[in-house]
Amino acid sequence: MLKQDIKKQIYQSFKKTAQKNKWTLPCFEEFPLETSLDEQFGDYSTTIAFSVAKEIKKSPVEIAEILIKEIKRHLPKQITRVELAKNGFINFYLDKKFIQKELQKISQNKSSFGFSKIGKKKNIIIDYSSPNIAKPMHIGHLRSTIIGEALANLYECLGYKVIRWNYLGDWGTQFGRLIAAYKLWGNKKEVEKQPIDALLKLYRKFHEEMKNNPELEKFGQQEFKKLEEGNKENRNLWRWFREESLKEFQKIYDLLGIKFDLFIGESFFEKDLASLIRSLEEKKIAQKSEGALIIPLEKYNLPPALIQKSDEASLYLTRDLALIQYRFKKYNPAKILYVVGNEQDIHFKQVFTLAKILFPKQKTELVHIKFGLVLSDQKKKFSTREGELISLEEVIDQAIRKSLAVIKDKNPHWSLAKQKKLAQAIAISALKFNNLKSFRTLDIIFDWEKILDFSGDTSVYLQYTYARINKILAKAKKIKNKNSKINYKELTHPLEIQLIKKLSEFPEIIKFSALKYAPNYLATFLLSLADLTNKYYELVPILKDKSLNLNRTKAQLVLLECITEAMQKGFKILGIQPLKEI
Ligand code: ARG
Repeated sequence: MLKQDIKKQIYQSFKKTAQKNKWTLPCFEEFPLETSLDEQFGDYSTTIAFSVAKEIKKSPVEIAEILIKEIKRHLPKQITRVELAKNGFINFYLDKKFIQKELQKISQNKSSFGFSKIGKKKNIIIDYSSPNIAKPMHIGHLRSTIIGEALANLYECLGYKVIRWNYLGDWGTQFGRLIAAYKLWGNKKEVEKQPIDALLKLYRKFHEEMKNNPELEKFGQQEFKKLEEGNKENRNLWRWFREESLKEFQKIYDLLGIKFDLFIGESFFEKDLASLIRSLEEKKIAQKSEGALIIPLEKYNLPPALIQKSDEASLYLTRDLALIQYRFKKYNPAKILYVVGNEQDIHFKQVFTLAKILFPKQKTELVHIKFGLVLSDQKKKFSTREGELISLEEVIDQAIRKSLAVIKDKNPHWSLAKQKKLAQAIAISALKFNNLKSFRTLDIIFDWEKILDFSGDTSVYLQYTYARINKILAKAKKIKNKNSKINYKELTHPLEIQLIKKLSEFPEIIKFSALKYAPNYLATFLLSLADLTNKYYELVPILKDKSLNLNRTKAQLVLLECITEAMQKGFKILGIQPLKEI
């Protein structure tokens, strides 16, 4: 791609000069080359002279002069001029012919535009969403679902074989308590009517009662033991709770348009735990401590890993070890991404350290994809008025209601059905985009006004821009069929040049967003592509010109088509629905 090609050539020349002068340059990936936003600074510009100057006793201007002198001796063919700008900036001017040609290349390979094959079909497992059954999915799970899905889509673009894995929290001592509670106070009809609500109430009641009646704790433990041992009644109850919870989760996934390849949860690994624990003991990796089994991790500056409690119950951590073993064996993945909130930081540090100890030869890269909290607009943890964490369905409902109000206001003459359909597309997209547009470890703020602002940094703004271009393209159908050549050389307007340069960065942005686990780069790219497009729309009338220069118009239409191509692909990755009208 254009920028990448040019960057390589500049880098090679600068590297040589740097070696000669014993300066250090950053690696290619870190080498700064900005796309200029204003023609007067050329097409690309670098600040490298400043970073070199920091290390040696020369001014940035002196350094820039030396670099420029050398590169001028073998100027890359795409560059017409190199210029020393104020204080040591170096600006590069391109021969426009290469930029125009770039658009032709993009348009000729439109279907593969943005994709690459660097993944070589290697497996990557993405562990995301992963809610706990019999409990409501909360806003943290929503973040995980949205970020995980975007990463899955990104890695698919790189040619990886992506395994979308929902690792349900469907095992653990809490299910003994839940079964006990159901046996004491449960009501089948209530659970059928609103499973998660009813189960949560039972579970809470059990905890309340336990305070006054310690016997209950034992009862819960017994019920879990029975469940583990395969007691039919308990197994059936557990299976039923699981199925009912899944049905409710599925409603949310359907609304969000999200599909998983696997729903393999904690319960699946229960059968492997005994032998795993035995082998840890045999290899003397784990040791007894006050009746429990632990693996000391002091050496790694981590708290000891508790593998088995004194009552022999296994833990979340133990099951994560069995899970990782299974994944290594069955998929030999290049990477496993765990998309889980910041608060499980220590847990994953322990899991990854243990994985290294247990499977030293395994090369899989393990990454905890952390993310921050969701705050309400008053900067509090997202909660209802009563202070409880708000349920996801409520959030989604609210999003749809709010966008319906906006749509009604904008398009009062549309039928209600049409308004509702649009409101849903806008709301779901806004919810996702708000989760993806800033770097994931930052807390995000939920401010409905801002999220649904047509002119802000929002998905609605992107959808609106997309619809605008689509209208032109629809109108231009006739012209497209007219017999005349596309003349790329006619694309000389500064905004046309800017737009082509921007487009040519799209494949790199996808790669970068995936490898840095940061869909926000793609989000920012789409926003700035939309900004340029809107400016273009306003300043350069297409199709409106009476003395239509067909060769030029056709080239402009190609440009618009390539913009929509990038938008469609970007939207698909981030989960934004493209709309023909808005
Ligand atoms: N169920 C867990 C929770 O809700 C998340 C599971 C994440 N994945 C994992 N392999 N531990 O907190």
